[in-house]
This record gives sequence, C-alpha cells and structure tokens, in this order.
Amino acid sequence: MWKHGTSAHLVLLVFAISIVNADIYLHIPRGSNNRLNENTATRKNANRLFDSQNNNRGGYNVGDKTDAASGDNAANQYNMKYLQSGSWKTMSGDQGKSFLTIEWTNQHGCGGDQNNQQKQNCALILQYMCQDDTQSPTADTLRNGVTTDTQGYTKPNNNNIAADRKTTDVNDKRGYHESWDWYNKCYLRERNKGLFVADQMLTANNGLGYSSAIYTRQNPTGNRYGYECPEERDYFPYWHPTPWSDIAILAENASVCSHYTSKSFNVQPYGECSQNSSRYNNEASCRQNGGVWNLLYSYLEKAPDKRSQAACDATKVTGLTYKWAVPFDGTVPECLVLLDKPDCREAPWSRSNHLGNGVHGLPLNYTWTLPNFPSGKIKSCVFRIRYNISTDDYDPYKTDYKQNEEFPKKSPIKQNPYVYVMSNQSPLRLALNTAQYGRVFQDRSHVFKLIPRPVGLNQGRIYNLNVRGKRGNIVQTYPAVEYDFAPNTLEIKKEDMVHIQWTGSNTHNNNNPAGDGQAGDAGEGKGGTDRSNFVELSDRSSNFPTPFENTQLWKNVKVEWIYFGKNDISPQDLAINMASAGYYRCAINCTDSVASKAQMNNLLDNAPASYEGALLRFKKEGSYHYMCTRNNNFSNRSQKGGIIVK
Ligand SMILES: *[C@@H]1O[C@H](CO)[C@@H](O)[C@H](O)[C@H]1NC(C)=O
Ligand SMILES: *[C@@H]1O[C@H](CO)[C@@H](O)[C@H](O)[C@H]1NC(C)=O
Ligand SMILES: *[C@@H]1O[C@H](CO)[C@@H](O)[C@H](O)[C@H]1NC(C)=O
Ligand SMILES: *[C@@H]1O[C@H](CO)[C@@H](O)[C@H](O)[C@H]1NC(C)=O
Ligand SMILES: *[C@@H]1O[C@H](CO)[C@@H](O)[C@H](O)[C@H]1NC(C)=O
Ligand SMILES: *[C@@H]1O[C@H](CO)[C@@H](O)[C@H](O)[C@H]1NC(C)=O
Ligand SMILES: *[C@@H]1O[C@H](CO)[C@@H](O)[C@H](O)[C@H]1NC(C)=O
Repeated sequence: MWKHGTSAHLVLLVFAISIVNADIYLHIPRGSNNRLNENTATRKNANRLFDSQNNNRGGYNVGDKTDAASGDNAANQYNMKYLQSGSWKTMSGDQGKSFLTIEWTNQHGCGGDQNNQQKQNCALILQYMCQDDTQSPTADTLRNGVTTDTQGYTKPNNNNIAADRKTTDVNDKRGYHESWDWYNKCYLRERNKGLFVADQMLTANNGLGYSSAIYTRQNPTGNRYGYECPEERDYFPYWHPTPWSDIAILAENASVCSHYTSKSFNVQPYGECSQNSSRYNNEASCRQNGGVWNLLYSYLEKAPDKRSQAACDATKVTGLTYKWAVPFDGTVPECLVLLDKPDCREAPWSRSNHLGNGVHGLPLNYTWTLPNFPSGKIKSCVFRIRYNISTDDYDPYKTDYKQNEEFPKKSPIKQNPYVYVMSNQSPLRLALNTAQYGRVFQDRSHVFKLIPRPVGLNQGRIYNLNVRGKRGNIVQTYPAVEYDFAPNTLEIKKEDMVHIQWTGSNTHNNNNPAGDGQAGDAGEGKGGTDRSNFVELSDRSSNFPTPFENTQLWKNVKVEWIYFGKNDISPQDLAINMASAGYYRCAINCTDSVASKAQMNNLLDNAPASYEGALLRFKKEGSYHYMCTRNNNFSNRSQKGGIIVK
C-alpha cells in the first residue's frame, strides 16, 4: 500500500498511523462509512463506494423497511424521504424552505477564533448528487446495492480501450454513486502535474504510458474506491466538471470563502477534452493533440421539455436561471436549470483529538435548505461530507510541484524526519506521513429521496426531525453514536411544520470482528435490531410517557401529511401510529387497527425498523417533549427530545 518505505519497520509504522486516525462520521443523515448491512462491528469493505480514510468501525447500516433484514432485496431497504423546499425564491424570508440539520463528528478540530486557535487548517465541504427517481433502473442508477463488493473496473490498455468494458464491469447488485464513465475519464485523464506531492512517488504509468488522475499524494498507487476519482476527492474546488453539487463550505476562516464560492462548479463551467482525447487535462494540450476543449456545466436539474435554445432562453422563473448548455454528463447542449452559489461560512468550533460535540455541548451541525426542483419530480440522492486538514509547515496554497522531492529544491516535508533541537546532536524523530500531511476524510449517506411537497403545502417552513445512532452502548457503538432524536431540541415558530421520520437496521449486531473496539449490541428487544417510537412526555426529566388523556402535544398539532395518505387522521390515532412505529394505524376503524391486528411486541420487535412519518403543523406555542419507550433506559441511555414552539 505504501510505496516509499525503505525498511519493513517504517512500512509497519506508517500503516499503524493510518488505521488509528479517526476522522469524520456523519450521524444525520446516517453516514455509511462504506458499510451496507453487515452484522459485524467493522465494515466489510473500505473500498465499497468512496475513500473515507476513517476507522473501520464507524458508520450505520442501510435502513430496512420492515422488521426483517432487507438482505438481497433492495426494495426492502428504506430510503429516507425528505420533503423538498417549496418555490421559496418567490416568497419572503424563510417561507417555503425545508430544513435538514446535518450532524457529524470530526476528530481533529476545526473553526475557532483568535482566543480559541486551531492546531491545523481545515475546511468541511458539503455536497450532494441527485438523479430523477426511476422505477426502471439502469446501470447508472444511484443505489446502495445489496452486496458489499466494489463495482468492477477493467483497466484499459491499447487493445481494449475502444471496447465496451462498462457492461461487464457494472453489477446491479453493488452500490453505485459516481458513474463508471466518471471513473474511466479519471483513469484516462493525465494527473495535474502542478500539484505538490512532497516526497511521494506517484505511479508513473497507468498502463497507457502516463500517470493519471487516479494517482495523488494521498493515494500514490491509485487504489480504487467505488468509482470515485482520487484527484477530485483530494482537491476542492476541483478544476474539471464533477457530478457533485456544492451545498456549503465550512472554512477555517470566512476570509477564504470567495476562493471557494467563485470556483465552485455550481457557478462556473469547467473544461474537458473531447472524449477520445480525454487524456489531456488542459485546453492547450487538448488542442495540440487535435481534441476539442468543451466547457461543461453543472445543473440543479435538466428541463427536457424546453427543446430548443429559444424555448430555454425564454423561460423566466423568479430566482431560477435556465441555460442552454452542455451538461457535465452529456455531449450536446440541453436546457439546464443552474445551481446557486454554495453557502460558505466559518466552520463550527471543535477541539482536536475528540469525536464529539462543539461549543455549548451541541452537536457539530449545518442546516441544509433542501433544494426545490421546479419539475416537481422525485429525486434519488446521496449526500457527501469531506473534512480537509492541513498544516502551516508549508503554505498549502502556494506550495506546488516546484517543491516536490524530484526537483533539485527538496520537499519542505519528508517522511518521519529527524530533527535537531539539542546542541549535542541527538536527533529526535517526528511522526510525519507525507501522504497524510494535508489529508481529506469523508463520509456519505445511503441513498435518500427528495420528494415534492404535498399539494397545497408550497408555503411554510418544514423541519426534519429524525433519530440518530445505532444499537449498542457507548463503547460498542463508538465511533458511531447511541440513539437520540435529532435535532434534539427543535426551536420553531407557530404554524411551522415538522416531519418526524426515522430509519433503522435489523442487522446492527455489532459482532466480531470488532477492530480496535468492543463487539456487542446492548439494548432492548431483539438483538441486532434498531427500533424507535415517539411518545409524548410531560417533562424532559421524567421517563414515563404522558397518557393520551393528558396530552398537550397531540391536541395542538394538525396532520398535514402522513405516509399512508390519509391526513384527516385523529390526534389519538396519530399517537397510536407513532407509539407503535407504524405497526398500527388507528385504534378501531382502519386496516392495521389495534382492535384487529395481532398484538404488537412490547419492545417493538415486530414493528417496522423505519417510519416514513407524518408532517405535523404546530398550532400552539409551548414546549413539547417526547421519548422512545424502547431505547430510553435511565442511567444508561436517553432517547428523548423537545420541540419548542415560540
Ligand atoms: C481570519 O482572517 C482574517 C483576515 O485575513 C484575520 O484577520 C483573522 O485573524 C483570521 N482569523 C483566524 C482565527 O485566523
Ligand atoms: C484540501 O486543502 C488543500 C490545501 O491544503 C487544498 O489544496 C485541497 O484542494 C483541499 N481539498 C479538499 C477536498 O478540500
Ligand atoms: C477520435 O477517435 C476516432 C475513432 O475512434 C478517430 O477517427 C478520430 O480521429 C479521433 N479524434 C481525435 C481528435 O483524436
Ligand atoms: C448547531 O451548532 C450551533 C453552534 O455552532 C448551535 O448554536 C446550534 O444550536 C446547533 N444546532 C443544533 C440543532 O444542534
Ligand atoms: C439497560 O441498559 C443496560 C446497559 O446497556 C443493560 O445492561 C440493560 O439490560 C438495559 N435494559 C434493561 C431493561 O435493564
Ligand atoms: C369506519 O370507517 C368507514 C370508512 O372510513 C366509515 O364509513 C365508517 O363510518 C367508520 N365507522 C365508525 C364506527 O367510525
Ligand atoms: C444500567 O446498566 C447497568 C449495567 O451497566 C445495569 O446494572 C443497570 O441495571 C441498568 N439500568 C437499568 C435501568 O436497566
């Protein structure tokens, strides 16, 4: 894995560093850390979809729809469904926006000010990718897959380069985020030779006679992770078209924001050499070699009903830009709805050597205003967060290939250097891995859906309220987390809407191998199963639910939407539906009523692992509290939350 080691001792040491460091974990939405549905504490395949650089223990399994493991039936996986924003650009203030508060932990610290200085430079990059949801999947359909294997890739050589390798490489049972074509272009495109790689020796020949974008300082021998492009992964803003749309950059200092936002692919096109000469990574060499340098665009979505440039240009919608241009994933101009500039702000403060909360004990978070897709279509999407840390031992923005070891001017950093601080020349050795000096960590969600708002609800704010965590006690779940509701205290205004939804797995057994942590899945109910429910509490320090007769919550909400399509459900029936995690739908007069259905297990074992939810409008000010009866275990585990309506 590490090419530069000259002694076995050195190689071992470097390897140890790379597995002990732990890193960035996404909790809302649930980050996979490359897990799928394995019942072991460690993930099975760190190369499944992306390069996380994380510890093998983190991550959450894909959700299951029912009380049974989805196994090899992808239709029984649960995809979280978030209601898109309405057409908020035509409204004032926050009206029409849907909010999803992302939560994560990052290990090395970020954010801060003069009084609370960081020990490294850092940035967090939040992105997503979506496609139209489809009932008839193709090779390129986003999917979690049902096996933990990595998609295939037949390396090109001079004999097979023109042949159809994709059809044999892509497997519909395996996870798929970036497309095969994206990785293939990366494999074929020369790497950016202007980059600083320190003393790393990057593989010089991809089999076609040159070094390409699959080799980077952090990935010098070109290990493959799904169809992610290593050069794109390691650098942001990237200088070629990418399939990712930028949501936000949380930078070490807001003063660097214009650097990020002006170069974001959301707001400016990037070039690519025409397909058969896609080896060339800049306009001059592309043309010299007879290629055409095409400027390609990112987009919010395509508007295929606008079939001509005239029709596209003539489309005027408040707040939206329609442009006739070649999309990053196409070859001919189409009508595109362009993206907005990403948000950029200072990262929330966190401390080094700690996978936990930020200031005031609150989780590291960013509230994403979910997009509004003007087509009104359902989208299938993936969310990605990257965490980039670098040092001031060299200027990360001004140091380039001229400081690479291969030039006469030596690299400013070297592998595990010996330094002299004592006058009598007894050197001290530093722990320095040049492949990780400046390092990017990553986590991604499983596939989720962005669904249009129900008819009549274009206006108004929607807040997502979900459950984070997985089965197990604090050491068994680490570096994932124990169950809790998130956002734990949700502050909203009267008339705002809350979408309560959760997902869980039936295979979170956390069995051996447990890597460098503990196996085991302490918890209530059937081993390996995540369950949650939602019952009212009169006050947050108590642990007994409020009987329905004394309700404050249910009598003050209006159901605007519920997953089984009947929004005139009574408050009492809704309370039953949520208390039973969707097992019952009402007390007496419906399918799945308490009166008619087989009795539910007291610990929800036979209730579904995921609850698609209801959209509640809070009609009255007040503080409402709630808990999960199964997982709340006083002195060991708390799963309670509050909604404060002002
Ligand atoms: C952020 O950048 C500004 C302007 O360059 C600088 O004055 C300030 O000290 C920086 N803050 C930190 C914490 O480095
Ligand atoms: C990480 O930071 C370095 C500067 O140290 C920068 O060159 C690189 O583009 C950044 N990568 C990502 C993914 O943010
Ligand atoms: C592209 O490839 C085709 C054959 O596959 C060839 O005819 C054409 O000359 C090539 N164009 C360039 C610019 O290399
Ligand atoms: C998110 O973090 C900020 C601090 O950066 C905090 O003020 C806010 O309450 C947090 N939000 C949630 C929902 O935890
Ligand atoms: C409560 O949690 C503890 C610690 O995980 C566990 O030992 C116990 O079995 C749990 N449940 C009950 C009902 O005691
Ligand atoms: C039961 O529901 C049906 C259909 O929704 C309705 O027609 C009937 O009146 C209801 N019966 C009772 C006792 O509520
Ligand atoms: C909490 O866990 C401890 C063991 O860690 C156990 O002895 C205790 O009974 C648990 N409390 C409850 C309420 O189950």
